[in-house]
Amino acid sequence: MDKQQLVETAQALVANTKGILAADESGGTIKRRFDSINVESTEENRRDYREMLFRTVGASEYISGVILFDETIRQNGADGTPLVKVLENQGIIPGIKVDKGTQALPGAPDELVTEGLDGLRDRLNEYYELGARFTKWRAVISIGDDIPSNYCVAANAHALARFAALSQEAGLVPIVEPEVLRDGDHSIEDCFEASEFTLHEVYRQLVEQKVFLEGTLLKPSMIITGGSASDRAKPQEVAKQSIDCFKRSVPAAVTGLVFLSGGEADDSVTSNLNAINQRAAEEGAPWELSFSFGRSLQGEPLKAWAGKSENLELATNAFYNRAMLTSAARQGKGV
Ligand code: 13P
Repeated sequence: MDKQQLVETAQALVANTKGILAADESGGTIKRRFDSINVESTEENRRDYREMLFRTVGASEYISGVILFDETIRQNGADGTPLVKVLENQGIIPGIKVDKGTQALPGAPDELVTEGLDGLRDRLNEYYELGARFTKWRAVISIGDDIPSNYCVAANAHALARFAALSQEAGLVPIVEPEVLRDGDHSIEDCFEASEFTLHEVYRQLVEQKVFLEGTLLKPSMIITGGSASDRAKPQEVAKQSIDCFKRSVPAAVTGLVFLSGGEADDSVTSNLNAINQRAAEEGAPWELSFSFGRSLQGEPLKAWAGKSENLELATNAFYNRAMLTSAARQGKGV
């Protein structure tokens, strides 16, 4: 394992003004996104949309890396340039989602387990050859009556650690994503408790499976009130609960936390990220606190694009603007 290379990649991904664009929607998810703008999800439309994002002039001021889906890492742009090359030419690091999505966890109604370990070693070697330098695996943890269960958390944490160890062996920085879903009307304290419990098990497994923590990033959910609760915590409270929770559960050796946006409204996501970084600057925190957003970076440009080539400029402007606002929040300099 080339530890130095892993640390350098991890640090570059959370460089001080920058964060990650998650553009790794699977076939079903990108279809849902395209349905929302009445665009058919064809291979060419997916390529055109993602190529538009990747070619946005100036994106690399704010975007350090992009997480790709298997289809995209193999695709060429309209002029024949591989999309991986388009990113490299921008100074953006290509990454790849390597899990194969969630399935029902046997014997645990309402809980899910992420699949994709079979054949992963070979796939990782191929992705490295194709230009990827980091990977992502998403586990999903739901909050509800008597869940998350020990069983669900242990099964998912075990898979996350296997994925992380195999990624590092292949020279790839793993982004470890135990997403605690916002769905439900739970309190912010419930989110804190489920996240702390999950993260303790995730890091227990990572250490047991000999993962080099400095060469990893964590992709957590912010500690927030459930999405359908009536009285939702404000950014200052989100910041306090988030930093308290991560200080209890994420080793200081981890290079950075890159939050997911999780379906929260764009304004709320950036306000929360901003408050988290302001609080971290005041009280000190051992890791970089950045972003790895899908929806919150893509919602506006997707709407502006609407599947029409004449909207390219509108859409790239919308993406650049969201990236700029998110970068400001990542530095605690947002509004
Ligand atoms: P969202 O920011 O839309 O939650 O997506 C991030 C992601 O990659 C989830 O795996």
